[in-house]
Amino acid sequence: MQKKDSYSKIIAGTMTWGSWGKQFSKAESAALINYCLENGISTFDHADIYGDYTNEAEFGRALIESNVPREKIQLISKCGIQFSAESRNNRVKHYDYLTDYIIWSVERSLQNLKTDYLDMLLLHRPSPLMQPSEIAEAVNKLQTAGKIKNFGVSNFSPSQIKLLEKEIEIDANQVEFSLTQNRAMNDGTLDDIMANDRIAMSWSPLGAYFKEDSPAISKIGHCLKNFCEKYDATEDQLLLAWIMKHPSRIKPVVGTTTKARLTMAAKAVQIEMELQDWFILLEAANGNEVP
Ligand SMILES: NC(=O)c1ccc[n+]([C@@H]2O[C@H](COP(=O)([O-])OP(=O)(O)OC[C@H]3O[C@@H](n4cnc5c(N)ncnc54)[C@H](OP(=O)(O)O)[C@@H]3O)[C@@H](O)[C@H]2O)c1
Repeated sequence: MQKKDSYSKIIAGTMTWGSWGKQFSKAESAALINYCLENGISTFDHADIYGDYTNEAEFGRALIESNVPREKIQLISKCGIQFSAESRNNRVKHYDYLTDYIIWSVERSLQNLKTDYLDMLLLHRPSPLMQPSEIAEAVNKLQTAGKIKNFGVSNFSPSQIKLLEKEIEIDANQVEFSLTQNRAMNDGTLDDIMANDRIAMSWSPLGAYFKEDSPAISKIGHCLKNFCEKYDATEDQLLLAWIMKHPSRIKPVVGTTTKARLTMAAKAVQIEMELQDWFILLEAANGNEVP
């Protein structure tokens, strides 16, 4: 298995680089790839579906333009979600984890990203109909062919991982985790990751903080503003530092495409949040002290 430390501590999420967000040109994406790398962010998180199945190809073209050697970066992608897009004739949004579909989807991602291998393939969401043996057959074939290095899941519960693990090793789980959405540390998800030495990744690591206006968010904001001075840090850095204090060594998958914010995210790995400050923020988010 590829070593854990071959992935950067902060991962660049690419979900909004294309038609679902910023609609970057090839040159803009190429510049952003180089910028991430210069700031120590060498891992890029993709999914086949981003941009209605168009982001990977745009990123692939930008990667060529960037002149960044393939071995300097790590590419994560996902498969399994099937929805209605121009390129797919689906009647309903669904999940597909049949052997042939997984292999077809990965080969398409490789073609689009203009690479021979993914550093990591993730199953995007659990399906009630998934068959461990079908998935294992696809993953074994892809790994034997050198088309994927690590294999993991996203949004899976510990029992869903256990089910798959009967047939295949699970290297990682990418889950929603932030100060305002901290369920994963209480429902066994992060315990499973730690107990089984998996790679933990958190999507939407800033949670609702910049998206919602509520009494809880104001309370968090009040605490964060006090800590900004103490830690000489910005609010987004403190939100990331809060996540990274979790002993699962979870890697935030950051969604920002703003260069200055990417730099701040990369620097957040140096912040050592004090124990009681971590609990002050938890209390503000949960609205009550720990029992
Ligand atoms: N596995 C899954 O099921 C799943 C689901 C969702 C997402 N993901 C992955 O996770 C990545 C991140 O998700 P996310 O976008 O929800 O994460 P996020 O990092 O929590 O949110 C980033 C968003 O917050 C905005 N923002 C506003 N003020 C900000 C500030 N002061 N500092 C930083 N950001 C600020 C950013 O805008 P600007 O861009 O304008 O800076 C950006 O739109 C995605 O790109 C994708 O790769 C995975």
